[in-house]
Amino acid sequence: MTNNVIIFDTTLRDGEQALKASLTVKEKLQIALALERLGVDVMEVGFPVSSSGDFESVQTIARHIKNSRVAALSRAVDKDIDAAYEALRVAEAYRIHTFIASSALHVEAKLKSTFEDVVERAVKAVKRARNYTDDVEFSCEDAGRTGIDNICRIVEAAINAGATTVNIPDTVGFCLPTEYGNMIHQVMNRVPNIDKAIVSVHCHNDLGMATANSLTAVMNGARQIECTINGIGERAGNTALEEVVMAIKTRQDMFGIDTRINTQEIHRVSQMVSQLCNMPIQPNKAIVGDNAFAHSSGIHQDGMLKNKNTYEIMSPESIGLKKEKLNLTARSGRAAVKGHMADMGYTESDYDLDKLYEAFLKLADKKGQVFDYDLEALAFIDMQQGDEDRLKLDKISAHSVSEFPATSFVQLELDGEKLSTVSTGGNGPVDATYNAILALTGLEITMSHYNLTAKGEGAEALGQVDIVVEHEGRKFHGVGLATDIIESSARALIHAINAIYRSHKVADLKAKHTQGV
Ligand code: KIV
Ligand code: ZN
Repeated sequence: MTNNVIIFDTTLRDGEQALKASLTVKEKLQIALALERLGVDVMEVGFPVSSSGDFESVQTIARHIKNSRVAALSRAVDKDIDAAYEALRVAEAYRIHTFIASSALHVEAKLKSTFEDVVERAVKAVKRARNYTDDVEFSCEDAGRTGIDNICRIVEAAINAGATTVNIPDTVGFCLPTEYGNMIHQVMNRVPNIDKAIVSVHCHNDLGMATANSLTAVMNGARQIECTINGIGERAGNTALEEVVMAIKTRQDMFGIDTRINTQEIHRVSQMVSQLCNMPIQPNKAIVGDNAFAHSSGIHQDGMLKNKNTYEIMSPESIGLKKEKLNLTARSGRAAVKGHMADMGYTESDYDLDKLYEAFLKLADKKGQVFDYDLEALAFIDMQQGDEDRLKLDKISAHSVSEFPATSFVQLELDGEKLSTVSTGGNGPVDATYNAILALTGLEITMSHYNLTAKGEGAEALGQVDIVVEHEGRKFHGVGLATDIIESSARALIHAINAIYRSHKVADLKAKHTQGV
């Protein structure tokens, strides 16, 4: 049995499938590269048969990742397995992950089938995947509600067919830790060929048990944990990577095993996933919440000053939180900006220094001091902007006087041409600004989500606006950051509109292609 726990990250598959608006290929690649630096053993990055976009992103990631194994999901269906292979074959090392449901409820109500037939389909799927690679994972979906005899039967059959990892998912987050731990114990002791495969766990957090269940499973012999950054995923999410990794590290006395994760990357990748996925982190979230290392009570602060161990079981530095240092100002040069980015763990290939420096100078002029978290936020925004944005914000001036509709003057640049108008809005200056932008672009858009968050602290904080808009049946995410919230709102809408323009371009190209032009 291996002495490390394999960390299988599924942020870009189980996590991504639960987002309000899907990520672009560029955003997925950015996250995949961060996961590689974090040191995940396996990253599951999509479900290639589900759409051409998913296929393309799996293939792009597979081409770039060199130090983690890249996995893709497939149902126990020939065309899914073939699509997973086609997308993954360019990777240095890859895994095909195939699954079928095993609980009586899923087998009867969803698959309209029998358990015998499911076992046969599982065996056939694993064999097909083994024709492509010797790294095949099999999952019996809803194992948490499957009788133990049937779990043992299907797991044994999958291993005989060639599965090298067998995953026991608690798909609906139903199990309690002792129950789930016992299930893994039974699998380890009753499946005769279990020594030929790694036992994996995949827990959902519907009852808030995902971390406890995964760790209890490890104590009972599981050696792979499937998890996501910040615990994102279907419904209440998946096991949070940062929680299981830091628990195993902090409680070495209980586990006696380790992971390959470079824990100092945790904070950075957590921020990146939160930002790009438009999924804020609750302040009291274990390990990565804003308050996870904050001490409020006087008694605690006194204890911390005397000896940090009184109230700190792990250090903020161990997850990559750096101590405050000198802040940047408008007089700081490019080298200083690059130096601060390097201290936060970013290499120059992660961002465009020219664009970042230009944005930094604008912000420094407005704000005076620029903190590391401001710089990081600017870099994230840059990662989300496309290379060729058709629409740009030129000028904006919004006014509101109580009891009267607000007015907003907006000047945009569309394909290099300046356009301006004044609009009103009954719901205030953001409404007026949005009406102006939509009047100038003529697009039909419905706003389905608007969220404003402060980036940074106190009056110095930047306002970040995240929106999701719907256009022609598709959802698009837009994000904007500025010292002024009307400007951040405008930038978020412009960001989403540029994504819409890009999607039109792709559709036009596809149409031309099919007409043979
Ligand atoms: O929750 C689940 O059962 C899954 C499987 C596809 C592994 O995500
Ligand atoms: Zn899942």
